[in-house]
Amino acid sequence: MKRRDFIKSSALLAISATAGNVAKASSMAQETALTQPEAQSTLIASAPMLQNYAASSIGITFAVSDMANGYVLIGQRPDLSDARKVMCGGFRTTEISDRVIQVRVTGLKPATKYFYKIGADRISYKNGYNMKILGNEEDPTIRHFTTAGPDAHSHFCVINDTHARWESFSRVIEKTIELAPSCVVWNGDASNAEETVEDQTRIFLNPEINRRDYAAYIPYLFCPGNHDSRGMANRHLERVWMFRQPEERASRDWDLGRNFAVRMGKIAMIGLDTAEGTNHLATRRIKPTRN
Ligand SMILES: [Fe+2]
Repeated sequence: MKRRDFIKSSALLAISATAGNVAKASSMAQETALTQPEAQSTLIASAPMLQNYAASSIGITFAVSDMANGYVLIGQRPDLSDARKVMCGGFRTTEISDRVIQVRVTGLKPATKYFYKIGADRISYKNGYNMKILGNEEDPTIRHFTTAGPDAHSHFCVINDTHARWESFSRVIEKTIELAPSCVVWNGDASNAEETVEDQTRIFLNPEINRRDYAAYIPYLFCPGNHDSRGMANRHLERVWMFRQPEERASRDWDLGRNFAVRMGKIAMIGLDTAEGTNHLATRRIKPTRN
């Protein structure tokens, strides 16, 4: 479906592929609502955002207010007693940032519920030989999400052309949380023309809405629109909206780090990370197979 068709018809399309979603949606929404309000902290400066939903991986991004080295604790037990610690920065040396921490968690099981929380070490950095950890901060809130896969629940929402218009964005987000889909596809033009990483952080990690945890339980996929590559900062949106790890994708497409081909139950979703060129989300219903 062309993105312009979404613009003409509605700011929000909620697509339910199976019956019985409403009851599950409302119970999940209530579960999510119980976490409000978010714990306030000094180093960790936003709720986590679940980015690039997939069957075996997830991206977890959050804002920090000072130089930090961040991580995620993730496991299948609600108390995180089986948790593993995943540092930011992929397979390279761990990242140090005073703005955004990005943790890519791989090796997950499909259609599986995971619990997680975020943390960061406060870093004093003077130069490559003079760097030390000053302290640690963990957000005490344990959150959860469920990975994609053939056995996942077939239910997703699409939002687009939000353009940092907070009043309408807030209403869209409230409706999305109420519907509690397995994931949300943000189909472009979250931005206008962003010149700074701070502006990008405000759009994705600290939007001016009540539900700052809007993407902490419901994973998001992103198909950048033309505005999402306009402005100096938006030329490298990956500083806030992470790329997937190279090993998750064909090498030909490494530079399009948010491409996705995700199976969600009976639905296959394909998204192109082509921004100024065009952005498309295609979906196809998978015919049931006989086993
Ligand atoms: Fe737009």
